[in-house]
Amino acid sequence: MQLGIRAISVWAMFVLTSTAARAQDTIPFVPSPMHVVQRMLEVAEIKKGDILYDMGSGDGRIVIEAAKKYGVRGVGIDLNLELVAKARDNAAREGVSHLVEFRAQDGLTVDISEATVVTLYMFKWFNNALRPKLQKLKPGSRVIAHDFDIDDWKPTRIEYVEPPKDDPSEYAESRTLYIWKVGSIPGSS
Ligand SMILES: C[S@@+](CC[C@H](N)C(=O)[O-])C[C@H]1O[C@@H](n2cnc3c(N)ncnc32)[C@H](O)[C@@H]1O
Repeated sequence: MQLGIRAISVWAMFVLTSTAARAQDTIPFVPSPMHVVQRMLEVAEIKKGDILYDMGSGDGRIVIEAAKKYGVRGVGIDLNLELVAKARDNAAREGVSHLVEFRAQDGLTVDISEATVVTLYMFKWFNNALRPKLQKLKPGSRVIAHDFDIDDWKPTRIEYVEPPKDDPSEYAESRTLYIWKVGSIPGSS
């Protein structure tokens, strides 16, 4: 059983990271490893008063970790009702329900204008479609995308995240973080 779950997870990771992923492919739930989540939040330079939106929030880990570690408000959006319920349970267990909100919605239809940090672990087609909303965020807002960038947008910075040295899991490969500071994105200011 353990092996089965691992095999599915490896497959999902392959599909997610495959450059062959076609336009508008359904985006599966593949969690960002926690060491990557930590780094995404660090490179976002989260500060008091930030409002973080995770588009496709899965089990809520990014929003919950930001609330726990930095005390900031966060909103997670996910199409999958079961994952939204799970994220709410996880937030309650971690004692941050007062700071976070999880909504069952299509991320492309959501008003994200209050966000000062947006995190993405989504296919490129989704990131590209979200671009008009990202462009309208307040100057200084940060957009952090895990492994999939945005066409024609030169990141302010790119960072590679190596796995922990002693990590034997299937997640043990280098990840790429694309970081934009709104105002530095062409056309965003
Ligand atoms: C790769 S997972 C990322 C989960 C989490 N952000 C993380 O990094 O651990 C992508 C998530 O996006 C959700 N999703 C896919 N399409 C979506 C859409 N159009 N709007 C909102 N969520 C979506 C999936 O249900 C899945 O939970």
